[in-house]
Amino acid sequence: MSTITDQDLEVLYTRQQIAERIAEMGAEITRDLNGEKVVLVGVLKGAAIFLADLARTLQVDATFDFVAVSSYGKGQRSSGAVKLIKDLDEPIEGKNVLIVEDILDTGLTLAYLRKIFLQHRPKTLRIAALLDKPSRRMEKIDADYVGFSIPNLFVIGYGMDYAERYRNLPDICLMAPGHPE
Ligand code: IMP
Repeated sequence: MSTITDQDLEVLYTRQQIAERIAEMGAEITRDLNGEKVVLVGVLKGAAIFLADLARTLQVDATFDFVAVSSYGKGQRSSGAVKLIKDLDEPIEGKNVLIVEDILDTGLTLAYLRKIFLQHRPKTLRIAALLDKPSRRMEKIDADYVGFSIPNLFVIGYGMDYAERYRNLPDICLMAPGHPE
């Protein structure tokens, strides 16, 4: 948490730390799949970069699908009801599904997605979240695979945004001190 990038942002996890942790997650997911196929369902837009990197660590036959959700309420964090604004392209019935999400925060998004995906009767439904903020939880939900568990910090980079900016930063960063969340 000590280095400062040229954009004056504090680095929480470097690209190398992220890559190493994702490789460990990928090995665990590969092992759990036991040679079976998987559908990776990325939650747009924040999980796009994580999905791209995680997918390349999996040694199984994987396909991709993407959903997008909008959450009602003010501010950058979801704070109310969740609505699906882009549905799955392909049926997931009978398939191994892994939801790939950038951050598990209040849990509203993943609790909602889990509920509607289970209605499609997948063979298995698991969740991989790069970051977990357990102290923020409003819905009782855990990810099966977590990259890093963090305190209540607002992070940007590696797919995650502040008002749609900073998604392309290669490291996971914190807002500069004094920057409004
Ligand atoms: P949840 O429904 O509260 O769990 O919200 C998860 C979503 O909130 C994530 O997919 C992010 O889009 C967003 N989010 C939560 N915390 C942060 C953060 O620290 N930085 C950027 N986006 C965040």
